[in-house]
Amino acid sequence: MKILAINGSPRANGNTAYALTYALSRFQELGVETKLIQLAELEIKPCGGCFHCIGHDCVHEDDMKQVEEAMRWCDGLVLGSPVYMGMVTGQMKTMMDRSVTLRVNGWQMSGKVGGGIACGGFRNGGQELTLQNMQTFFLQQDMVAVADGPHFSHSGAAVVGEAAKDPIGLQTIDNLVTKIVKTIGQ
Ligand SMILES: Cc1cc2nc3c(=O)[nH]c(=O)nc-3n(C[C@H](O)[C@H](O)[C@H](O)COP(=O)(O)O)c2cc1C
Repeated sequence: MKILAINGSPRANGNTAYALTYALSRFQELGVETKLIQLAELEIKPCGGCFHCIGHDCVHEDDMKQVEEAMRWCDGLVLGSPVYMGMVTGQMKTMMDRSVTLRVNGWQMSGKVGGGIACGGFRNGGQELTLQNMQTFFLQQDMVAVADGPHFSHSGAAVVGEAAKDPIGLQTIDNLVTKIVKTIGQ
């Protein structure tokens, strides 16, 4: 089983990186192969909407190629984003838009399992909408979107404030990991 985590934060060593690293260590304990992509370290230009990608490579020659390769590689995808103005970050949205190439060239993400982790500074800061942004993305890629599973099972893993000091947030991450592994294993 192979899990890819993508961090949409502009801060490669921030709170979302902590949450995703925590999730990946849980996957590793279950014998799962993992990979972490930090969008903060990549140059990804915004989609130009030209649809040249249908049947061809994208007109942009940038780091999206390695993200696409990793997305093809994985069985499950965990998106992690800080909440920015109640939504995913611009970096995450740019990556989502550019991954349209996988959709228009044979639905390459079909059937893969997706789950989200949203890290907000505040309670009720928009974690749920941020997770719904991610679920919409998974569904548009014909993936299987999962929530964090029992015994909370809301929209995905939600962190409030510093992840390391949010035991309930970390519990939602544990639950999400269990749910993803179970769903892929079925
Ligand atoms: C531009 C900007 C917008 C933000 N908007 C929200 C918000 O709407 N709701 C919220 O709870 N936190 C908001 N935050 C706080 C971050 O989501 C929070 O600090 C998060 O843990 C940062 O994660 P990172 O360290 O991985 O970047 C915002 C932060 C920034 C910089």
